[in-house]
Amino acid sequence: MLRSILLLPLIGLVTRSVAATPNISAIFGPSLSSGAQIFLPSQANYTEDVTQRWTTYDAPTYIGAIKPATVDDIQTIVTLAASNEIPFLATGGGHGATITYVNCTNGIEIDLSNFDTISINATANTMTVGGSVRFEDIIPPLYDAGKELPTGTAPCVGLVGATLGGGIGNLQGLHGLILDSLLSVELVTPSGDVVTASTTENADLFWAIRGAGANFGIVTSATYQIYEATNGGEVMSANFLFPGSANRSVWEIFESFDDTLPAALSLTAYAGFNQTTQEMELIVSAVYYGPKEEGVPYLASFTALNATETDLVMVAWPDLIDSMAFGADASACTTGSYLNVWGLGLAETNVDTYTTFFTELEAFAQAHPDYTGIFVVDRYSSEAAAAVPANSTSYGYGYRKINSHLLFENSYTNPSLDGVVNAFMRKSRAQFQRTSGFSEMEIYLNYAHGDEGPEVWYSPQHLPPLSQLKSQWDPDQLFSFNYPVPLA
Ligand SMILES: Cc1cc2nc3c(=O)[nH]c(=O)nc-3n(C[C@H](O)[C@H](O)[C@H](O)COP(=O)(O)OP(=O)(O)OC[C@H]3O[C@@H](n4cnc5c(N)ncnc54)[C@H](O)[C@@H]3O)c2cc1C
Ligand SMILES: *[C@@H]1O[C@H](CO)[C@@H](O)[C@H](O)[C@H]1NC(C)=O
Ligand SMILES: *[C@@H]1O[C@H](CO)[C@@H](O)[C@H](O)[C@H]1NC(C)=O
Ligand SMILES: *[C@@H]1O[C@H](CO)[C@@H](O)[C@H](O)[C@H]1NC(C)=O
Ligand SMILES: *[C@@H]1O[C@H](CO)[C@@H](O)[C@H](O)[C@H]1NC(C)=O
Ligand SMILES: *[C@@H]1O[C@H](CO)[C@@H](O)[C@H](O)[C@H]1NC(C)=O
Ligand SMILES: *[C@@H]1O[C@H](CO)[C@@H](O)[C@H](O)[C@H]1NC(C)=O
Ligand SMILES: *[C@@H]1O[C@H](CO)[C@@H](O)[C@H](O)[C@H]1NC(C)=O
Ligand SMILES: *[C@@H]1O[C@H](CO)[C@@H](O)[C@H](O)[C@H]1NC(C)=O
Repeated sequence: MLRSILLLPLIGLVTRSVAATPNISAIFGPSLSSGAQIFLPSQANYTEDVTQRWTTYDAPTYIGAIKPATVDDIQTIVTLAASNEIPFLATGGGHGATITYVNCTNGIEIDLSNFDTISINATANTMTVGGSVRFEDIIPPLYDAGKELPTGTAPCVGLVGATLGGGIGNLQGLHGLILDSLLSVELVTPSGDVVTASTTENADLFWAIRGAGANFGIVTSATYQIYEATNGGEVMSANFLFPGSANRSVWEIFESFDDTLPAALSLTAYAGFNQTTQEMELIVSAVYYGPKEEGVPYLASFTALNATETDLVMVAWPDLIDSMAFGADASACTTGSYLNVWGLGLAETNVDTYTTFFTELEAFAQAHPDYTGIFVVDRYSSEAAAAVPANSTSYGYGYRKINSHLLFENSYTNPSLDGVVNAFMRKSRAQFQRTSGFSEMEIYLNYAHGDEGPEVWYSPQHLPPLSQLKSQWDPDQLFSFNYPVPLA
């Protein structure tokens, strides 16, 4: 009672000060280096020059953006934003899609575009990059050096952004998660300090950022272990297009790989409703890091299904992503669409569950003509990732055993469909979870919708130590818009 009376005048004050948009040029301008740039949404060059987000669904709202030019600038921005109580989010590739960003309102985007350097030491087998480089930026120089590093399959995703939550992709069977290759980072902490984190320096922080990294600061540069290019960087890439009627047979083949997917082979299924034919179709993209004669036999069961369309090529690694899914994957770079993303991890394939969902998806798309979503299944061998001790990083305790990552990319233009899409997704995710082979819900963090809660994002085993570290390094919760780790 007393408390609420005392708070009343304060609430009035807070409301008034929030109503006036802070002048970010005045607050930050004088303290930044000459190379830093400030952008206001009213400027014509805002959408052109500032990194835009892949999805507008539950997106953060910004009063402006700053492109720091130096590490010093980042320290200044973090410190001044904190003291002026302006929320902020660092942006690498802009592909973060969790609904937890909706809590960042009237904030500033710290656009890391200037942190774009790539330096490879072929002798030491290391690569150091700036905090904003994307998968597509590192593949050509690594290939030219005869090296490789696991990446994801969407070219425009930020390498560091992906690493901080895990990093899955088609080299993971050979080299593990992307974060398993991380050697050290330079980080601006919530208190505005610059620190190095590695297994020998700030080791607790290094443990935390490998799984929950976006909660602990801004990575200005990151150094990775790199590897000799497998098969000289020549990769086998095959695509199969199947009619919806073949879906059960495809899921049966997926099931047959549950315990036998070779480390060098990965499979991705893309399922969607074709607006022209008004029927479901299913693309399977197979990638094999090795010679053709070695890879082809693994695909015999797909070949026997008489696909509507097939291709199979050997490509140089830099051309791999463009070759996948008959070239459709490159569209993952389009920004500003309304995409409502859900995900789940599975330890085993249940053919009935897949078949039911696939058929329900067709009915859903038929009933809602505005809906153009796709259902993606990523299959990577968990061999190398599972060989790394689960407690050596904060990545979800059991998640190294996930053998199929489901990603539901619900695309539509009319937000009035939100309710029905979310109900369909909640039901479907629960159906898949019941037959997942896991007793609890397990999801690769970066594929999580954002409604699952911290025990699911970080696992019951890793959440308590993460919360301890959060209280130590970010007690004011400045970095709590990306799957926030609660304080201890
Ligand atoms: C189409 C699509 C395809 C995808 N494919 C894959 C895939 O193949 N493999 C995979 O592992 N993941 C994949 N993802 C998920 C992806 O890893 C995450 O969305 C990741 O967070 C994106 O990082 P970003 O830098 O592109 O995004 P952003 O939105 O810029 O950043 C995401 C989060 O990371 C933080 N962040 C980014 N850079 C830094 C930094 N330098 N320091 C501190 N914090 C930082 C941001 O503040 C934000 O909270 C995909 C996502 C999409 C939308
Ligand atoms: C914001 O501050 C800048 C620099 O101090 C000033 O030039 C500008 O007029 C201010 N803008 C507004 C809207 O007050
Ligand atoms: C963007 O446009 C504003 C004027 O609208 C201009 O002052 C500013 O210099 C431009 N910035 C860049 C980086 O071009
Ligand atoms: C936003 O923050 C509030 C308060 O911490 C929390 O209860 C809510 O779940 C958050 N919303 C999302 C979508 O994460
Ligand atoms: C590359 O690494 C080697 C071995 O660690 C080291 O001797 C060399 O100085 C490094 N080269 C550069 C350019 O940093
Ligand atoms: C999926 O396969 C099942 C079993 O063969 C079939 O009954 C169903 O119609 C298929 N779904 C679609 C959308 O074609
Ligand atoms: C839909 O089907 C038509 C006719 O078979 C085909 O030409 C087109 O490429 C398909 N569209 C997509 C997005 O796959
Ligand atoms: C594929 O085609 C071959 C040759 O026409 C045929 O023998 C086989 O039964 C077909 N398989 C399927 C699954 O339709
Ligand atoms: C991993 O950590 C959890 C709790 O954080 C602990 O219960 C478990 O014993 C640890 N396992 C190993 C193998 O160290």
